[in-house]
Amino acid sequence: MKKGFKAVALLVVIMLFAAVVAACGKSEKVSVGIVLPTKDEPRWVQDEQRFKDALKGTDYTTEILFSQGSSAKEKENVETLINKGIQVLIICPQDGDAAAAAVESAKKAGVKVISYDRLITKTDAVDYYVTFDSVAVGAAQAQYLVDHAKGGGEPLYLYAGAASDNNAFLFFQGAWSVLQPKIADGTFKIANSSEAEALKDTADLSQDRDKLSKIIGQITTNWDPNEAKNKAQTHLTAAAADMKGDVAILAPNDGTARSIADVFASDKDVKSFVVSGQDAEKASIQYVIDGKQSMTVFKDVRNLVKDAMGMALSILDGNTPETTGEYDNGKIKVPAKQTDVIVVDKDNVKAALIDSGYYQASDFQGL
Ligand code: BGC
Repeated sequence: MKKGFKAVALLVVIMLFAAVVAACGKSEKVSVGIVLPTKDEPRWVQDEQRFKDALKGTDYTTEILFSQGSSAKEKENVETLINKGIQVLIICPQDGDAAAAAVESAKKAGVKVISYDRLITKTDAVDYYVTFDSVAVGAAQAQYLVDHAKGGGEPLYLYAGAASDNNAFLFFQGAWSVLQPKIADGTFKIANSSEAEALKDTADLSQDRDKLSKIIGQITTNWDPNEAKNKAQTHLTAAAADMKGDVAILAPNDGTARSIADVFASDKDVKSFVVSGQDAEKASIQYVIDGKQSMTVFKDVRNLVKDAMGMALSILDGNTPETTGEYDNGKIKVPAKQTDVIVVDKDNVKAALIDSGYYQASDFQGL
């Protein structure tokens, strides 16, 4: 009897031990690795949250790491995830060219790579790309400025994202396709970019990265609100009286839009301004409600996360993910799935962001 009890107790201990080992083994093995550029911008914290929401209640083993604006840290993150046994890597690069080395080591380890939101460039180690329609983002920002122009000869201030981000080119290319005819017909006059001024008769910059580079090099914010603020201050200090009054401002995203808007709002010679943005960051939604930022482009991150995870799962199941087009990354044409964007201003902010369940009304004042 005593012997039997001992044997049962031993068996229970062995079983418990085995269960613990199995659980540990499982939690260390990650099948999908996710690498995002930085926690310092609300946009990417949004993505992290939406990934977490999408994964809640599922038993997919994933891990999310941030690169904090460093391509070296990004490479290290990818190595860490490879060592944890990932089969699929979803990665939004800090710098499109520099990330090539990181995904090349993933490829060597047999990992499939999905470029997320930003395209990884000049490498064949990218299998898929999930993205918003970034050319449409820029075109929508510009269209808003055109639709709200106050008459002829309105000063136009141009700002762009970081030159290390392929999206900055797509956004500006889209914006330029809408703005250029309106510069040519005198609706706008460029206030702050000699490079854009020099190209004002070139309607289509989509095939000319060098020309785009010249403009972006001059008006870049590097996606940094502080840099944007400093640039805007410099531009307004240098601007003659005829470059003030009612003005239009192409700001590439919400973080930079808010700081540029603050600078323009504090200049007494600027009578009114229309300023674009993108990302529907909470702080910018409040700015839109308060009339301090004119518009934003809502990129529903839930859809991007759904597309990326859908692709990853289809790869894990041994299938070929569905794609809707392709993007040239300078080396190969990457099969891509693209999702649409929505323009938001004061008039539809509630319908687009609250009624859709993206944000809660209680997050904002004065809705
Ligand atoms: C993203 C934007 C973001 C920007 C700065 C771009 O690649 O598409 O949503 O605002 O990077 O992080």
